[in-house]
Amino acid sequence: MATQANVSGEQQTADFLPLKGTDHVEFYVGNARQAAHFYRTAFGMSLVAYAGPETGRRDRASYVLQQGKVRFVLTTALRTGSEIAAHVSRHGDGVRAIALWVDDARQSWLETTRRGARSVQEPTEIADDHGRVTLASIAAYGDTIHTFVERGHYNGPFLPGYQPVANDPVARPAGLLHIDHIVGNVGWNAMNEWVDFYHNVMGFSLYQHFDDRDISTEYSALMSKVMANGNGYVKFPINEPAEGRRKSQIEEYLDFYGGPGVQHIALATGDILHTVSQMKQQGVDFLTVPHTYYTELQGRVGKIDEPIEELERLGILVDRDDEGYMLQIFTRPVEDRPTVFYEIIQRKGSRSFGKGNFKALFEAIEREQALRGNL
Ligand code: FE2
Repeated sequence: MATQANVSGEQQTADFLPLKGTDHVEFYVGNARQAAHFYRTAFGMSLVAYAGPETGRRDRASYVLQQGKVRFVLTTALRTGSEIAAHVSRHGDGVRAIALWVDDARQSWLETTRRGARSVQEPTEIADDHGRVTLASIAAYGDTIHTFVERGHYNGPFLPGYQPVANDPVARPAGLLHIDHIVGNVGWNAMNEWVDFYHNVMGFSLYQHFDDRDISTEYSALMSKVMANGNGYVKFPINEPAEGRRKSQIEEYLDFYGGPGVQHIALATGDILHTVSQMKQQGVDFLTVPHTYYTELQGRVGKIDEPIEELERLGILVDRDDEGYMLQIFTRPVEDRPTVFYEIIQRKGSRSFGKGNFKALFEAIEREQALRGNL
């Protein structure tokens, strides 16, 4: 693909947007109290901080959940007519902000807006007894934003204004370590526009790409390019729908989300057998693949450490490349709209995204799509 050479050819210049990683992901949801309960009991995250009317915030309530380095913020509107309520009305529960951890939020905002990013929030310093933090935001695809978070020496539980919650008795940790990648779905023929955005505005480069020869089944098709920042800590695959005989899963997402947005968040574990069996016990619904996937597995990926019967019992997929292999599994959407879902991933050398699994996986997604009457 021509764009690959263009994008990867000029990455020698200094990184104008150094990122220390993903700081947090903020969701706008209809009922944050209940959503927090789901992430605590099913995903095993701990409630670590809270802000709402009791802490002096009149218009919204936010619950901060953490497991390993994965940090989610669930925010809900307390009154009609707010931008949070409007976001939920348009999209259902979904990701509003992918927040990135930086040393200098003002500089990050200046460098990106100078390169064409639309500002959502100018650099703003907030402080409490624990120190000060600077935040700034720019627009990404759809209603999604990137917030630059500069923490300096801040030592509070999350951000100024949040009160700590000690020792969550409800959380059932499942071994989730950090965010591996966050995937965005964009509209028809819009993938390259957003690949250019991440390259030109944020200094990312093309990491991998897949086209509809890699990712198509009889019905579903999509195109995908993975963009990564300079140190590789932050990876954003971008999907667009492609023409197939029937409706693409990306198109189904766009219809129900009401436009572009975050499709899935991949969470890394060091022991996928343990993590997935625990999450299953705790009520997380995962996609399943047929028995034939496992009869062909050994021949396709060669020798692996995990017993194939165990992988089949849990529905875990495996893919191999030159550098090693990876194990992955996908949840069903975690809300009633067929929109946001999760991937659990364990990397054993491989830096790939499971291209060898796309066909088996898409067929599984299509079975679900057909059940919803959207195929
Ligand atoms: Fe993924």
